[in-house]
Amino acid sequence: MESSQAIGVFDSGVGGLTVVRALAERLPTETLYYFADTAHVPYGPQPASSITAYVTDIAAFLFEQGAKIMVVACNTATATSLHHLRQRWPDRVFVGMEPAVKPAALATRSGKVGVLATQATIASERYASLMHRFAQHVQVWQDPCLGLVPLIEAGEWDSPKTEALLRSILSPMLLAGVDTLVLGCTHYPLVAELIGRIAGEGVTLIDPAPAVARRVEDLLRQQQLLAQPGAEPPAHHFYASGPTEVVEQTLLRLFGQPIPVQQHTVARL
Ligand code: DGL
Repeated sequence: MESSQAIGVFDSGVGGLTVVRALAERLPTETLYYFADTAHVPYGPQPASSITAYVTDIAAFLFEQGAKIMVVACNTATATSLHHLRQRWPDRVFVGMEPAVKPAALATRSGKVGVLATQATIASERYASLMHRFAQHVQVWQDPCLGLVPLIEAGEWDSPKTEALLRSILSPMLLAGVDTLVLGCTHYPLVAELIGRIAGEGVTLIDPAPAVARRVEDLLRQQQLLAQPGAEPPAHHFYASGPTEVVEQTLLRLFGQPIPVQQHTVARL
Protein backbone atom coordinates (compact mmCIF):
# COMPACT_ATOMS: atom_id res chain seq x y z
CA MET A 1 0.00 0.00 0.00
CA GLU A 2 1.31 3.45 -0.92
CA SER A 3 0.55 6.68 0.94
CA SER A 4 -0.26 8.32 -2.41
CA GLN A 5 -3.31 6.03 -2.87
CA ALA A 6 -6.77 7.55 -2.38
CA ILE A 7 -9.27 7.50 0.47
CA GLY A 8 -12.49 5.77 -0.68
CA VAL A 9 -15.72 7.36 0.56
CA PHE A 10 -19.30 6.38 -0.24
CA ASP A 11 -22.94 7.02 0.61
CA SER A 12 -26.38 6.37 -0.86
CA GLY A 13 -26.31 9.85 -2.40
CA VAL A 14 -25.08 13.35 -1.69
CA GLY A 15 -25.08 13.04 2.13
CA GLY A 16 -21.55 11.65 2.31
CA LEU A 17 -20.30 14.85 0.70
CA THR A 18 -20.65 16.39 4.18
CA VAL A 19 -17.97 13.89 5.22
CA VAL A 20 -15.91 14.67 2.09
CA ARG A 21 -16.02 18.33 3.17
CA ALA A 22 -14.67 17.43 6.63
CA LEU A 23 -12.00 15.13 5.14
CA ALA A 24 -10.87 17.74 2.61
CA GLU A 25 -10.58 20.34 5.39
CA ARG A 26 -8.65 18.12 7.78
CA LEU A 27 -6.55 16.21 5.23
CA PRO A 28 -5.87 18.60 2.33
CA THR A 29 -3.08 16.46 0.84
CA GLU A 30 -5.27 13.36 0.47
CA THR A 31 -6.89 12.30 -2.80
CA LEU A 32 -10.56 11.33 -2.35
CA TYR A 33 -12.66 8.95 -4.45
CA TYR A 34 -16.35 9.41 -3.71
CA PHE A 35 -19.23 7.19 -4.78
CA ALA A 36 -22.88 8.30 -4.56
CA ASP A 37 -25.35 5.44 -5.10
CA THR A 38 -27.94 7.73 -6.66
CA ALA A 39 -29.55 4.77 -8.48
CA HIS A 40 -30.59 3.27 -5.13
CA VAL A 41 -31.08 6.24 -2.78
CA PRO A 42 -32.74 6.32 -0.23
CA TYR A 43 -31.27 3.35 1.64
CA GLY A 44 -33.24 4.04 4.83
CA PRO A 45 -36.51 2.27 3.91
CA GLN A 46 -34.78 -0.71 2.18
CA PRO A 47 -34.00 -4.17 3.57
CA ALA A 48 -30.50 -4.65 4.98
CA SER A 49 -29.79 -7.39 2.41
CA SER A 50 -30.27 -4.98 -0.52
CA ILE A 51 -28.13 -2.27 1.11
CA THR A 52 -25.38 -4.84 1.76
CA ALA A 53 -25.45 -5.90 -1.92
CA TYR A 54 -25.13 -2.29 -3.11
CA VAL A 55 -22.32 -1.30 -0.77
CA THR A 56 -20.33 -4.48 -1.38
CA ASP A 57 -20.21 -3.61 -5.09
CA ILE A 58 -19.32 0.01 -4.33
CA ALA A 59 -16.49 -0.97 -1.97
CA ALA A 60 -15.15 -3.44 -4.57
CA PHE A 61 -15.18 -0.69 -7.20
CA LEU A 62 -13.39 1.80 -4.93
CA PHE A 63 -10.77 -0.79 -3.94
CA GLU A 64 -10.21 -1.44 -7.67
CA GLN A 65 -9.53 2.29 -8.04
CA GLY A 66 -6.81 1.86 -5.38
CA ALA A 67 -8.48 3.03 -2.16
CA LYS A 68 -6.10 2.60 0.81
CA ILE A 69 -8.85 3.04 3.43
CA MET A 70 -12.66 3.04 3.10
CA VAL A 71 -14.94 5.56 4.79
CA VAL A 72 -18.54 4.40 4.98
CA ALA A 73 -19.98 7.93 4.99
CA CYS A 74 -23.46 6.62 5.67
CA ASN A 75 -24.99 5.76 9.05
CA THR A 76 -27.48 3.42 7.39
CA ALA A 77 -24.85 1.40 5.50
CA THR A 78 -22.70 1.25 8.62
CA ALA A 79 -25.62 -0.01 10.71
CA THR A 80 -26.72 -2.65 8.20
CA SER A 81 -23.55 -3.70 6.38
CA LEU A 82 -20.24 -2.70 8.00
CA HIS A 83 -19.95 -6.07 9.69
CA HIS A 84 -20.32 -7.79 6.30
CA LEU A 85 -17.77 -5.48 4.61
CA ARG A 86 -15.20 -6.21 7.33
CA GLN A 87 -15.76 -9.95 6.91
CA ARG A 88 -15.46 -9.70 3.14
CA TRP A 89 -12.22 -7.64 3.31
CA PRO A 90 -10.60 -8.67 6.62
CA ASP A 91 -7.26 -7.02 5.74
CA ARG A 92 -8.73 -3.65 4.82
CA VAL A 93 -9.46 -0.71 7.09
CA PHE A 94 -13.05 0.59 7.17
CA VAL A 95 -14.24 3.63 9.09
CA GLY A 96 -17.99 3.68 9.74
CA MET A 97 -20.38 6.38 10.95
CA GLU A 98 -22.87 6.04 13.74
CA PRO A 99 -25.30 8.48 15.33
CA ALA A 100 -23.36 10.57 17.86
CA VAL A 101 -25.43 9.35 20.82
CA LYS A 102 -22.44 9.25 23.16
CA PRO A 103 -21.34 12.90 22.73
CA ALA A 104 -24.99 13.99 22.83
CA ALA A 105 -25.62 12.15 26.10
CA LEU A 106 -22.55 13.86 27.55
CA ALA A 107 -23.47 17.31 26.22
CA THR A 108 -27.17 17.56 27.13
CA ARG A 109 -28.06 19.79 30.07
CA SER A 110 -31.78 19.00 30.04
CA GLY A 111 -31.10 15.24 29.96
CA LYS A 112 -33.21 15.08 26.78
CA VAL A 113 -31.72 14.22 23.40
CA GLY A 114 -33.26 13.96 19.92
CA VAL A 115 -31.89 11.56 17.33
CA LEU A 116 -32.63 12.15 13.64
CA ALA A 117 -31.68 9.04 11.66
CA THR A 118 -33.19 6.67 9.07
CA GLN A 119 -35.57 3.74 9.50
CA ALA A 120 -32.86 1.14 8.86
CA THR A 121 -30.45 2.80 11.30
CA ILE A 122 -33.03 3.02 14.09
CA ALA A 123 -34.09 -0.61 13.52
CA SER A 124 -30.51 -1.92 13.62
CA GLU A 125 -28.84 -3.93 16.38
CA ARG A 126 -25.94 -1.50 16.23
CA TYR A 127 -28.23 1.36 17.19
CA ALA A 128 -29.82 -0.66 20.02
CA SER A 129 -26.36 -1.37 21.37
CA LEU A 130 -25.39 2.31 21.12
CA MET A 131 -28.47 3.29 23.12
CA HIS A 132 -27.81 0.59 25.68
CA ARG A 133 -24.17 1.59 26.15
CA PHE A 134 -24.43 5.38 26.17
CA ALA A 135 -27.99 6.61 26.64
CA GLN A 136 -29.25 4.86 29.75
CA HIS A 137 -29.16 8.03 31.88
CA VAL A 138 -30.86 10.35 29.35
CA GLN A 139 -34.26 10.45 27.64
CA VAL A 140 -34.11 9.98 23.88
CA TRP A 141 -36.62 11.01 21.22
CA GLN A 142 -35.89 9.52 17.83
CA ASP A 143 -37.40 9.93 14.39
CA PRO A 144 -36.78 8.08 11.09
CA CYS A 145 -37.38 11.33 9.16
CA LEU A 146 -39.41 9.65 6.40
CA GLY A 147 -39.20 11.59 3.15
CA LEU A 148 -36.37 13.90 4.23
CA VAL A 149 -33.52 12.26 2.27
CA PRO A 150 -35.43 12.43 -1.08
CA LEU A 151 -36.09 16.16 -0.49
CA ILE A 152 -32.40 16.78 0.21
CA GLU A 153 -31.44 14.75 -2.89
CA ALA A 154 -33.83 16.99 -4.86
CA GLY A 155 -31.83 20.01 -3.69
CA GLU A 156 -34.67 21.25 -1.45
CA TRP A 157 -32.45 22.31 1.44
CA ASP A 158 -34.64 25.23 2.42
CA SER A 159 -38.00 24.81 0.67
CA PRO A 160 -41.42 25.25 2.36
CA LYS A 161 -41.95 21.49 1.95
CA THR A 162 -38.72 20.62 3.74
CA GLU A 163 -39.45 23.16 6.44
CA ALA A 164 -42.95 21.73 7.02
CA LEU A 165 -41.59 18.18 7.23
CA LEU A 166 -38.82 19.19 9.64
CA ARG A 167 -41.27 21.13 11.81
CA SER A 168 -43.48 18.05 12.12
CA ILE A 169 -40.46 15.90 13.02
CA LEU A 170 -38.94 18.36 15.49
CA SER A 171 -42.04 19.75 17.24
CA PRO A 172 -42.64 16.82 19.63
CA MET A 173 -38.96 16.70 20.58
CA LEU A 174 -38.70 20.43 21.13
CA LEU A 175 -41.92 20.51 23.14
CA ALA A 176 -40.49 17.76 25.32
CA GLY A 177 -37.43 19.91 26.07
CA VAL A 178 -34.72 18.31 23.94
CA ASP A 179 -31.61 20.55 23.95
CA THR A 180 -29.28 18.37 21.85
CA LEU A 181 -30.01 16.97 18.39
CA VAL A 182 -27.96 14.21 16.80
CA LEU A 183 -27.70 14.43 13.01
CA GLY A 184 -27.63 10.65 12.60
CA CYS A 185 -27.65 10.59 8.80
CA THR A 186 -24.96 12.23 6.67
CA HIS A 187 -27.62 13.97 4.56
CA TYR A 188 -28.94 16.02 7.48
CA PRO A 189 -26.03 18.46 7.90
CA LEU A 190 -27.11 19.78 4.48
CA VAL A 191 -30.27 21.08 6.17
CA ALA A 192 -28.57 22.01 9.45
CA GLU A 193 -29.25 25.70 8.93
CA LEU A 194 -32.97 25.07 8.59
CA ILE A 195 -32.98 22.67 11.56
CA GLY A 196 -31.12 25.28 13.63
CA ARG A 197 -33.64 27.95 12.68
CA ILE A 198 -36.57 25.74 13.71
CA ALA A 199 -34.92 24.46 16.89
CA GLY A 200 -33.68 27.86 18.08
CA GLU A 201 -30.45 28.94 19.70
CA GLY A 202 -30.63 26.87 22.85
CA VAL A 203 -30.42 23.59 20.92
CA THR A 204 -27.05 22.09 19.96
CA LEU A 205 -26.73 20.08 16.71
CA ILE A 206 -24.14 17.31 16.58
CA ASP A 207 -22.59 16.31 13.24
CA PRO A 208 -19.99 13.56 13.63
CA ALA A 209 -18.19 14.31 10.31
CA PRO A 210 -15.24 16.21 11.89
CA ALA A 211 -14.70 13.36 14.38
CA VAL A 212 -14.70 10.86 11.51
CA ALA A 213 -12.07 12.90 9.66
CA ARG A 214 -9.90 12.91 12.82
CA ARG A 215 -10.29 9.14 13.10
CA VAL A 216 -9.24 8.65 9.46
CA GLU A 217 -6.18 10.85 10.07
CA ASP A 218 -5.20 8.80 13.17
CA LEU A 219 -5.58 5.51 11.34
CA LEU A 220 -3.55 6.68 8.34
CA ARG A 221 -0.83 8.05 10.63
CA GLN A 222 -0.64 4.77 12.56
CA GLN A 223 -0.10 2.92 9.29
CA GLN A 224 2.28 5.54 7.90
CA LEU A 225 -0.12 6.10 5.01
CA LEU A 226 -0.69 9.86 5.32
CA ALA A 227 -0.20 11.45 1.87
CA GLN A 228 2.73 13.81 1.50
CA PRO A 229 2.12 17.26 0.04
CA GLY A 230 2.61 17.21 -3.74
CA ALA A 231 3.41 19.95 -6.24
CA GLU A 232 -0.26 19.97 -7.33
CA PRO A 233 -3.36 19.84 -5.10
CA PRO A 234 -4.89 16.31 -5.05
CA ALA A 235 -7.32 15.45 -7.89
CA HIS A 236 -10.50 14.06 -6.34
CA HIS A 237 -12.82 11.76 -8.32
CA PHE A 238 -16.59 11.58 -8.01
CA TYR A 239 -18.87 8.81 -9.26
CA ALA A 240 -22.62 8.21 -9.19
CA SER A 241 -24.54 5.03 -10.06
CA GLY A 242 -27.61 6.98 -11.25
CA PRO A 243 -28.16 10.67 -11.91
CA THR A 244 -24.93 12.68 -11.72
CA GLU A 245 -26.43 16.21 -11.82
CA VAL A 246 -27.58 16.17 -8.19
CA VAL A 247 -24.04 15.33 -7.06
CA GLU A 248 -22.57 18.03 -9.30
CA GLN A 249 -25.04 20.59 -7.92
CA THR A 250 -24.25 19.64 -4.34
CA LEU A 251 -20.50 19.83 -5.00
CA LEU A 252 -21.00 23.30 -6.45
CA ARG A 253 -22.97 24.40 -3.38
CA LEU A 254 -20.46 22.93 -0.93
CA PHE A 255 -17.16 23.75 -2.65
CA GLY A 256 -18.12 26.75 -4.79
CA GLN A 257 -16.72 25.34 -8.03
CA PRO A 258 -17.95 23.03 -10.79
CA ILE A 259 -16.61 19.48 -10.34
CA PRO A 260 -17.46 16.71 -12.85
CA VAL A 261 -19.09 13.45 -11.75
CA GLN A 262 -18.76 10.19 -13.72
CA GLN A 263 -21.47 7.59 -14.08
CA HIS A 264 -20.71 4.02 -12.97
CA THR A 265 -23.30 1.26 -12.53
CA VAL A 266 -23.26 -1.03 -9.47
CA ALA A 267 -25.39 -3.94 -8.16
CA ARG A 268 -28.56 -4.19 -10.17
CA LEU A 269 -30.89 -6.20 -7.96
N1 DGL B 1 -26.85 9.31 4.23
C1 DGL B 1 -27.32 8.11 4.78
C2 DGL B 1 -27.10 7.94 6.24
O1 DGL B 1 -26.15 8.50 6.77
C3 DGL B 1 -28.44 7.36 4.15
C4 DGL B 1 -29.69 8.08 3.80
C5 DGL B 1 -30.60 7.19 2.98
O2 DGL B 1 -30.20 6.83 1.87
O3 DGL B 1 -31.69 6.84 3.46
O4 DGL B 1 -27.82 7.24 6.90
